[in-house]
Amino acid sequence: MAKKIVSIEDIPGVGEKTLEKLKNAGYIDLMSLAAASVRELSDLVGEQTATKIIEVARNALDIGFETGIEVYERRKQVVRLTTSSKSLDNLLGGGIETQAVTEFHGGFGSGKTQVGFQLAVNVQLPPEQGGLDGSCLFIDTESTFRPERIKEIAEASGLDPKKVLENIIYARAYNSDHQILLVEKAGEIIKEKNVKLMIIDSITSHFRAEYTGRGELAERQQKLNRHLHMLQRLADVYNIAVYITNQVMARPDILFGDPTAPVGGHVLGHFSTHRVYLRKSKANTRIARVIDSPYLPEGEAVFAITEEGIRDAE
Ligand SMILES: Nc1ncnc2c1ncn2[C@@H]1O[C@H](COP(=O)(O)OP(=O)(O)OP(=O)(O)O)[C@@H](O)[C@H]1O
Ligand SMILES: [Mg+2]
Repeated sequence: MAKKIVSIEDIPGVGEKTLEKLKNAGYIDLMSLAAASVRELSDLVGEQTATKIIEVARNALDIGFETGIEVYERRKQVVRLTTSSKSLDNLLGGGIETQAVTEFHGGFGSGKTQVGFQLAVNVQLPPEQGGLDGSCLFIDTESTFRPERIKEIAEASGLDPKKVLENIIYARAYNSDHQILLVEKAGEIIKEKNVKLMIIDSITSHFRAEYTGRGELAERQQKLNRHLHMLQRLADVYNIAVYITNQVMARPDILFGDPTAPVGGHVLGHFSTHRVYLRKSKANTRIARVIDSPYLPEGEAVFAITEEGIRDAE
């Protein structure tokens, strides 16, 4: 039987020189090759090799047609991660699910980051307690990661805060290209560290800051598109949950329709499996609303942000 292809070193006919070229250009695993286009790889290795490499990588990752029963078998692996609010879990069909990208969007202080912190702790819990027995990969683009707050949330759940922090693999993304690269490199870390949850807080801030001109909008959308595609692939291939945040701003350029439409617009809407809109309510409570999900019914849930973390509202 042919050797099973699990890394780019295993691709037949890829010599050391080609391998080095690919790795230097950021193609460090099968995932990045499978998501590449022949055109972009052709510059590095020539069209023929590019076509072959991409095909091998896609086959190895089972990217292509599947039968209904295969999809069904894969879907059976889906597990859910609790948010620590029953009401919010119910809204999400039992919690944040694996093999999906879940986007929380909302205004300043609506709780997107706090939900992320709670999930980063909860993923480490055993399944009987709503966790996934895994670690968290946290990509921070806004410098709002707070280990002190994680510690507080962990202690409230009766966990050893030091251990919890050790199981959060943190990266600060300095710009959108860096953010993309971190995600492209994530495959190996996910396998190595038993990552079950990947967080990007926030997915859009760098893109928003860097691509400002009207003429750059198409390029921004395209890049975001590929980025989100990659996230969905990671979620599928490694059966992990992906949680991303997106701050909504008032959009003075939109006179009709929703003036707080999330940045990234339809592109995000198209690629996140589930979108949840958060808004502030009385005191420490927040209202979450599911928006155009493929299978969750539309509805709302109320939860609270407390010292202990995310909880049901009293
Ligand atoms: N230790 C704490 N105890 C209780 N509530 C807290 C604590 N820390 C933060 N909060 C609450 O969480 C809110 C901030 O939420 P969060 O940072 O998650 O918002 P966000 O949606 O990420 O906002 P932004 O778009 O600015 O990133 C604060 O306004 C406060 O109400
Ligand atoms: Mg935030």
